[in-house]
Amino acid sequence: MNVYAEKLVPIIKDQMVAVEESLFEKVESQVKIVDDIGIHLIKAGGKRLRPALYLLCSYDANLPLKENASLAASLELIHMATLVHDDVIDEASTRRGQPTANTLWGNKISVLAGDYLLAMAFSSIADFIKPREIQVMANTIALVCEGEILQNINAFNADITMEDYKRKTFQKTANFIASSCELGAIRANFTEEQISQIQTYGNCLGMAFQITDDILDITGNAKQIGKPAGNDLKQGIITLPVIYALKNSPHQEELRKLVSSTEITDDEVAKALEITRECGAVEYSYDIVRDYLQNAKNILPKELSLEVKNSLINVIDFVESRDY
Ligand code: IPE
Ligand code: IPE
Ligand code: MG
Ligand code: MG
Repeated sequence: MNVYAEKLVPIIKDQMVAVEESLFEKVESQVKIVDDIGIHLIKAGGKRLRPALYLLCSYDANLPLKENASLAASLELIHMATLVHDDVIDEASTRRGQPTANTLWGNKISVLAGDYLLAMAFSSIADFIKPREIQVMANTIALVCEGEILQNINAFNADITMEDYKRKTFQKTANFIASSCELGAIRANFTEEQISQIQTYGNCLGMAFQITDDILDITGNAKQIGKPAGNDLKQGIITLPVIYALKNSPHQEELRKLVSSTEITDDEVAKALEITRECGAVEYSYDIVRDYLQNAKNILPKELSLEVKNSLINVIDFVESRDY
């Protein structure tokens, strides 16, 4: 059982245990290396945020445990697949405090293993999933791909705007988190208006979640976040705090030169991070995070049970204060 889920959202404790069981069933393969990769990824842990949100948003309908945990697990499998691919793209060495799949098995196997996970996410729910739900899930994957592509084409571009940043952040992260909430609301038979409010909650939460991830890449260390710190700038990914610093730092010219260099060294990354941290960019970014989270709180439908509402608010508080 995941510590984060147990503390923040105890009402879905049993379902989260069922999600873990379902994950192991879904990744099973006759090909040993494929089996090993799946088990490695599941055992590395992670926050299980997307399945937890799905289960919370469907909680009030009291749906059958096995099916519901299975759909939640499929969302986590899709997430894991996107991370495996993302780590190939970002040349990341660690994830969830463990070596990445690309470190252990290489890029070629990792790309295929990610595809395998995507296939298993869908085939394992085929006997009960409805067309609208498949559409939400498939669309989520499409938007993650588009978001990652938008991010890639803007690598090392110091002229990237806040609008560019927000658009790709919605596509690669917020929409997935919103869809996890939306799916729960759809399966719980909420009204269209309530579904839309729950989706908006997820969208605002997801924007805040990616911004705090981007802040942690600047302020955190590898041990704490379980993945390499400073890796965004190393890969030319210019995130919200850096966009702010490029406009407001007294050293903006130096920063511009550093972040647009495709040959940026570790020392130069450290310098760029220092410039970013020193001009109030982190504080500014947290203000934006808090705005999104306030909107998430305000939009929650009043028809949700108190225990679900409180859990969804706990998740909001976690996103603001998280340090991993
Ligand atoms: C990492 O997601 C990718 C982002 C969208 C920032 P998580 O932070 O949810 O990763 P895990 O599942 O806990 O490892
Ligand atoms: C999220 O962005 C990646 C996906 C949507 C797959 P990041 O590249 O910031 O995620 P981390 O920091 O590697 O977890
Ligand atoms: Mg990454
Ligand atoms: Mg990141």
